[in-house]
Amino acid sequence: MQDTCQHFWQHWQHSPRIILGVTGSIAAYKAVPVASHLTQAGAKVDVIMTKAATGFISPLTFRAITGRPVAIEMFELASEFSLEHISLAEAANLIVIAPATANVIAKLAAGIADDLLCCTVLASKAPVVIAPAMDANMYENSITQDNLSKLEARNFIIVGPRSGRLASGKEGPGRFAETHEIIDHICQLLGANGDLANRYIVVTAGGTQEPIDPVRYITNRSSGKMGYALAEAARDRGAKVLLVTAPTCLTRPVGVDIIDVTTAQEMYQATKDVAPQANALIMAAAVADYRPSSIAKDKIKKEADRLTLELERTQDILASIKGDFIRVGFAAESTNLLENAKHKLHQKGLDLIVANDITDSDSGFGADNNRVTIIDREGNIDSLPLLPKREVADKILDKVAAFLARRGKG
Ligand code: CTP
Repeated sequence: MQDTCQHFWQHWQHSPRIILGVTGSIAAYKAVPVASHLTQAGAKVDVIMTKAATGFISPLTFRAITGRPVAIEMFELASEFSLEHISLAEAANLIVIAPATANVIAKLAAGIADDLLCCTVLASKAPVVIAPAMDANMYENSITQDNLSKLEARNFIIVGPRSGRLASGKEGPGRFAETHEIIDHICQLLGANGDLANRYIVVTAGGTQEPIDPVRYITNRSSGKMGYALAEAARDRGAKVLLVTAPTCLTRPVGVDIIDVTTAQEMYQATKDVAPQANALIMAAAVADYRPSSIAKDKIKKEADRLTLELERTQDILASIKGDFIRVGFAAESTNLLENAKHKLHQKGLDLIVANDITDSDSGFGADNNRVTIIDREGNIDSLPLLPKREVADKILDKVAAFLARRGKG
């Protein structure tokens, strides 16, 4: 979740309906950002709280965040939920219980339906995501472990818990998962039937690092944001995604296979091995064009007044990996944007090239936004306005999906 969520579910004809179950854990307040992200992303979020949860956080908070009524007791509230939990359960595209206590996990594992939340889960065919949060001993207890295994065997998605400091002051497993982990799982589930379902997309990202000596290296200003946005966007459209990434400071996306590399040569090796199985290779990485011709074994000391480094060419990954898959390149240019990009498109035999002017201060390297022009091998030129990288990613994937659909690949 690198970007604020906006258009996660672009292939949905209507807003997805999500039931957010909140149960009685000290982590109940952490359900607020989850509700907020989902609502901002365009989902219709119906919150169901257990009675115990209302001791930790007010229903009014969720009502304000989601703009929708909050349900608590089964047959009490004068809301659209009362006596209608079955239709609510049927309308839900996804249920997320965050936080989920040991108690609710036990009830779900046993099929007990004595409150509105458990009743709704039992009555629904929607996928269920569970984010446990509890004391470490409760979590590690074999009863809880058995219950979680039972739910997992029934295709419930368990997110977390993490290890760390717990409410009791002790350290251990039981901490509520990070918001982004929960949101990423939800995006992946809701995107499963998107236009890239059954496609395998390889994305490269980040700036490679070429060592000079044990402490120094040559690199570039790439943050990896564009590549990570592409990997997440492809995942959220149903693709199986492999991200080959040079070092970045970004949060690792959930639901994406990742190969970590450092140098251009490592990126070449990793990409060459996987690309033949892919439907598309998107080279968003800023690969070093040159590397030091030798790497000093020991740290280079500052002795001479001048130091000359000899550099040699790295392998051009995109130009050398060819096959029956869509190949997408990037052209980061400071002069003659379109001319240079078109030259690279033809020289490397690409299907698409995404050109951006790196002299623009509000886009490109390190920025959250990008202003790009997409050129395809048929000569179509699409100049996009300044957009968040996630939206640029979706525009690029629209074209990849169209190419794939035309080729009829499966
Ligand atoms: N690329 C690559 N392997 C390299 C260098 C670049 O696969 N050794 C890929 C990049 O990931 C990008 C595209 O090629 O998708 C264009 O990269 P760019 O550096 O802009 O172009 P170059 O071909 O390296 O040309 P120049 O540096 O002269 O602009």
